[in-house]
Formats: sequence, C-alpha cells, structure tokens
Amino acid sequence: MLVLGIESSCDETGVALVQAAGVGVPRLLAHALHSQIEMHQAYGGVVPELASRDHIRRVLPLAQEVLGQAQRGLPELDVVAYTRGPGLAGALLVGAGVACALGAALRKPVLGVHHLEGHLLSPFLSQDPPEFPFVALLVSGGHTQLMLVEGVGRYEMLGETIDDAAGEAFDKSAKLLGLGYPGGPALSRLAQQGDPAAFKLPRPLLHSGDLDFSFAGLKTAVLTQVHKLGDALEARKADLAASTEAAIVEVLVRKSLMALDRSGLERIVVAGGVGANRRLREHLDAACARRGVRVHYPELSLCTDNGAMIALAAAMRLQAGVQQASAAYAFDVKPRWPLQALAA
Ligand code: KG4
Ligand code: ZN
Repeated sequence: MLVLGIESSCDETGVALVQAAGVGVPRLLAHALHSQIEMHQAYGGVVPELASRDHIRRVLPLAQEVLGQAQRGLPELDVVAYTRGPGLAGALLVGAGVACALGAALRKPVLGVHHLEGHLLSPFLSQDPPEFPFVALLVSGGHTQLMLVEGVGRYEMLGETIDDAAGEAFDKSAKLLGLGYPGGPALSRLAQQGDPAAFKLPRPLLHSGDLDFSFAGLKTAVLTQVHKLGDALEARKADLAASTEAAIVEVLVRKSLMALDRSGLERIVVAGGVGANRRLREHLDAACARRGVRVHYPELSLCTDNGAMIALAAAMRLQAGVQQASAAYAFDVKPRWPLQALAA
C-alpha cells in the first residue's frame, strides 16, 4: 500500500510517500518540505492568509518532487492522506482540497489525519521505533499534552496546558528578547551561552499534583525581567534565555516522570517541534535512564511539521483497521479538534 501524505496545517508544506505492507511499521520512501519561515519572519509570526496562498504554490511541485525521489508515478498511489486538523482553516483547506482533487482524479480514496496523531506516531519512522503502550509528551507550537497511548487511535489524555503551549512559551519569550520568529530554536541556541540558574523564573503548576501545565505566567515573568534589566538586557540576554529554557524544560521533564509513575509504563515518546530542544532531550534522557525508562524521539528532521507523519498516521490507521479511506471526496477541515475525539 502506497500512501501519499500532505501536511498544510500551519507554516510548512510537507509531502511524503510511505509504503505499508502487512502489519509491519510503514517505511518512508521519500519526503519533501517547504518551510514558510522566511516569508512570515517580516511579520514576527504566521500570517494565515499568506500561509494558505503559499501552500497552494508549493504543494504540487513538492508532490512531484517526492514521487520523483521515490521513482513512483501518481497512478501507483493507493491512498491520498491529508491533515484534516487542527490548524489554520485556510491552510488546512489547501491540503484537503488538493488531496481530494488528486484522489478523485486518480479514483483513489482519501483519508483525513489528525495532525497531533501524526506527531505522536512519528517516532515509528525512527531507527528506534517504540512499541505500544507508551506515554506521549506532545509539545508543539499549539499543544502541550501528556497522553496515554495504548495503540493506534487509543489515546487517553493525562494532562494538558491550561493556557499557552510549551512552544508558545519559547516563541513568546524569544520575542520579548528580540529573537524573532520562530523563537524556540533561536532561544535555545542563545541559551547555550547562558547560565540556566542566573534568573529565578517560576515553574508553574510544578507542584499542582496533576499533570496539567501552565506557561502564560512564565512569559510575564520574562517580561518583568526584561523591564528590570533595561539597558543591561543585551549583556544578560543569554542568561535570561537559558533560565527561561530551564524553567520550561524542568516542568516538562517532571510532569513526564509523574505521568510515567502514574501509568506504570516504562516507555515515553516525545513528539512535536519542542521535542527538537536539546536541553529537553538531555534532561529527559538522563532522568529516564536513571529509572530504566526508554525514551523515543522522531528523527530530528521529523520533529517539526512534515508530510511523513501524516502519510504514516494514515497508513497505521488503515493497517490497524480503525479507519477506512473514503472515496466520497466531501472533505471538511477541523481547525479545532481534540485528539481524544478521534474514535478508535
Ligand atoms: O510541531 P511544530 O512544528 O508545529 C506545531 O504543530 O505547532 O512545533 C513548532 C514549535 C514552535 O513553537 C517552535 O518554536 C518550537 O516548536 N521549536 C523549538 C525548537 N524547535 C522548534 N522549541 C525549543 N527548542 C527547539 N530546538
Ligand atoms: Zn505540528
């Protein structure tokens, strides 16, 4: 079974081809990505209308690139998958529209995929794929969730952020430090030259006793420090970046360990853009190694948004028999779509 996957929920257009046979983990044959980061940089964040228009320009050339790389032709496709949500409505409509048009033209069925399920399953494409069940820490620009994953489509929410997502905390703090967009990678690069203990920043909900997160207050604390420092900010920027990163990472690691304790599981998967963060990886790896817990990450190139995870999630849903691809081509998109709403 050959599945073409199209991701267009936010600011990356991703297309990929995976092959699935029997019940084995699907194999990635090719993937291509166009990041809109440069285009949005001038605005300090994603401009939805520009994002949609750029997806339109990129998606078919990327599909051709992927098919060329894999030396496959359009008629060989069995299923066309696309991100149905959550994300920017206009951007999602591009991927959904193109996938359904392709499907209709080729007389092949289509399947709408949950973006977060894509992130969650993306470590299955790594050299060291996980096995079910596991705890998943989903940390992206829009979501921060701890999930209990028992199988494809069997997701139980253990905790989530009550306000900003971890990626948002990185991005907003980076903006306050004048680091531009996207802030996460920039802040974490600068943090390497700073002292993570230089500033005492809050660790929100660290002792709340539940598995929820809150990051909105951290941004306010960073703003307060920026104001206090005034002209001295430039000289202390790396320290403040390092302290901010340390606060976010400590909360993510501690709550992940709590989730492991509560579930009794000895395996955790980290997915989403913030999963690329080096400090998070180092601290989680060290803490889990002490407890004999296995940690799985997607390949670094598949941490942020991509088409591979969408093609993979579609293939795994079909393999597990939890969903059928449809030839109705009556697509809709779901800009807001809780992962737990995915019926197994
Ligand atoms: O999963 P993703 O690509 O898009 C969403 O679905 O949101 O995640 C993007 C988020 C952004 O907030 C970005 O700043 C953050 O991931 N991010 C990082 C790093 N790389 C990406 N945050 C911290 N450290 C990084 N190295
Ligand atoms: Zn994402």
